[in-house]
Amino acid sequence: MAKRETLFSGIQPTNQTHIGNYIGALKQWVELQSSNNCLFCIVDLHAITVPQNPEKLREDIRSTAATYLAVGLDPKKCTIFVQSDVPEHAELGWIMGTVARMSELERMTQFKDKAKKQKENVSVGLFTYPALMSADILLYDTTIVPVGEDQMQHVELARTLARRFNTQFGETFNVPHAVIQKTGARIMSLDDPKTKMSKSGTLANAIFLSDAPDVITRKIMRAVTDSGKGISFDPTKKPAISNLMTIFHHVTGDSMEKIEQDFGNKGYGDFKKALAEATVEYLTPIRKKREMYMKDQKELDRILKSGAETAHKKALKKIVTIRKNMGLGR
Ligand code: TYM
Repeated sequence: MAKRETLFSGIQPTNQTHIGNYIGALKQWVELQSSNNCLFCIVDLHAITVPQNPEKLREDIRSTAATYLAVGLDPKKCTIFVQSDVPEHAELGWIMGTVARMSELERMTQFKDKAKKQKENVSVGLFTYPALMSADILLYDTTIVPVGEDQMQHVELARTLARRFNTQFGETFNVPHAVIQKTGARIMSLDDPKTKMSKSGTLANAIFLSDAPDVITRKIMRAVTDSGKGISFDPTKKPAISNLMTIFHHVTGDSMEKIEQDFGNKGYGDFKKALAEATVEYLTPIRKKREMYMKDQKELDRILKSGAETAHKKALKKIVTIRKNMGLGR
């Protein structure tokens, strides 16, 4: 039997979760939860690195929790919790900020992208964000971090900081590694296959897990396609169709070869119609379950409270060792 790994991953509770988050992250989590020790976090402290409305943030935290449950994360198998409910994240985030170098954080592409959007209002928190993310991961002796491709650079930094800390203060942290999907680690925008599907992009760029069937169908039918014709998987020459094929593969389980065989001679329109139908069929039960969990706030609360207690016990034990190794406290 394969060794039980310790997994940590999280999603920012900003706006709705989209099919990129699902394919890149959540789908892997569900597959991995039964045979590993898993912690899945709703990273609200990360969300506040850009301006948030408190009412909306509160709603988005609950909605993200409901989404975790709706896609099939089972609180009996994994720990689901909100980051700010476990204060050790913030403490270790501060510590990691003292271990990280300015030059390392300046190189982070997510910071550079997000800073551009914030213009002159870039918070210090947005800059030190990867130190907090390293803390999230290292606090639980994590061995595996299942993420989308865009988070690989951050996980690499967590590895660097873990090694640096261990060299300076003695063996304290496990050095984790990222795992990404073979296909679908980077789902692209429907309206621009050169950019990543994102929560903060145009409404048409993403299929949100909360989208109604007619909205999903409209977005897919209007998705940008490549010049030429033919359904074949070639992300370089046919980025738009290859992206749609990746989504098709994930919602039907069909291999790329089968998709090529089934749709090879058909037009883009026929393929999109089939994709829209398959996506609606796949996402409808998830949307309904999410709505059901949103109505049962008491149950959501119970799950998040219990998850926070489990995570807090582990985090507290670890932070005591970290403080001791660094010479902090009395
Ligand atoms: P976030 O909230 O931006 O995204 C959540 C997860 O979804 C993946 N993802 C994608 N995968 C495929 N295609 C896409 N277009 C796409 N867009 C997003 C992300 O890679 C991620 O796995 N910094 C993290 C949250 C975080 C975290 C952590 C993750 C905080 N602490 C510790 C892992 C471990 C973030 O902003 O993810």
